[in-house]
Amino acid sequence: MLHGRKILLIVSGSVAAFKALMLVRLLRAEGATVRAVLTAGGARFVTKESLAAITGEAVQDDLWAAEAEIGHIRLARWADVVVVAPASANRLAQMAQGLAEDLAGCILLATRAPVLVAPAMNPAMWAHPATRANIATLAAHGLHFIGPEDGPMAEPESGPGRLSEPAAMLFAIRTLLASGPLSGKHALVTSGPTHEPIDPVRYIANRSSGKQGHAIAAALAALGARVTLVSGPVALADPPGVRVLRVETAREMLAACEAALPAEIAIFAAAVADWRVAREAGQKLKKQPGTEAPMLNMALNPDILATISTHAQRPKLVVGFAAETEHVLEHARQKLARKACDWIVANDVSGDVMGGAENAVHLVTAEGAEDWPRMPKEEVAARLSARIVEFFA
Ligand code: CTP
Repeated sequence: MLHGRKILLIVSGSVAAFKALMLVRLLRAEGATVRAVLTAGGARFVTKESLAAITGEAVQDDLWAAEAEIGHIRLARWADVVVVAPASANRLAQMAQGLAEDLAGCILLATRAPVLVAPAMNPAMWAHPATRANIATLAAHGLHFIGPEDGPMAEPESGPGRLSEPAAMLFAIRTLLASGPLSGKHALVTSGPTHEPIDPVRYIANRSSGKQGHAIAAALAALGARVTLVSGPVALADPPGVRVLRVETAREMLAACEAALPAEIAIFAAAVADWRVAREAGQKLKKQPGTEAPMLNMALNPDILATISTHAQRPKLVVGFAAETEHVLEHARQKLARKACDWIVANDVSGDVMGGAENAVHLVTAEGAEDWPRMPKEEVAARLSARIVEFFA
């Protein structure tokens, strides 16, 4: 996804600097070239040698040595994006002042590339009016921010100040660099089954593998969309460059979808459980000698597709799936109307579709139905994504 992209990573002084090393691995796995600049503070937490080994490039940590080798201007121009991760409170202050006393400061003044800043510091330092003012100044300069996240710190304290996770930083970098027919568009995709608990050890599930939904998320991201994938429990790797929100139940899936809005595109490929157990048992249900099997009282789950289709922030294009075992087209047309969506991708799931690698679908729209031949789920995803590009063209 980031093939051939050039990323300049500035690592400043924070205990979270180890996450920068993890970020480099993710960036390189997507084909990016990463060059690192280590500040004096950063060098207290990670070594030049480990950054060099992980980037596969020489690490710059000295303004004057860099001048001799390539020069800060050339380094600043080389980058497609400059990422400051972690950005310490001191580094933010230097940036807001426009100080050019070290290599990182010079590069940040000289670059014309977008700059992504990932702050990391103690919650009290983050909350201080001086830091707040620096952030406002930098935002006014057009810098982009990710985090900090709320959570436990290295010291026995908790609050906003944690460096964002490497996968979240990767997502933000992809978004900044996104190019393609869907760039600038946010797509929400659901995938996989849901698990509806019976008691602490048992749940109700279905055969969905998530392969189709994950393939759609990957295909949309490859076309430049910013993708949020809300996934039930699956045994699949996260698609590269996609923000993945993991949920278990239908109600959690709905909450995650609503929180992800606004979006221009929403595709509901998840096999959501229609029912849940009305009252989850707090303790494992026990067999009582001589008694009958327990009766499970069921309650109706929310319909996520129908809720988002009629939402105040309804995405411009809403696509549902229809899993049918008979009267596929007829049921799909009914679902299109009942769930107020724009398209339905209907499939016959009576064979090996659920969990399988291939799918034979019908695309049902207000204009009519198209029968697509059986093909790998990745191809269904690519074809559907191409139709989405046409829709927005
Ligand atoms: N769906 C949903 N929330 C639910 C149930 C279904 O968002 N609680 C979505 C699915 O993701 C899919 C579409 O609705 O995009 C249709 O799912 P399907 O299981 O085929 O339909 P049902 O609503 O369950 O209808 P039926 O039981 O009549 O087949």
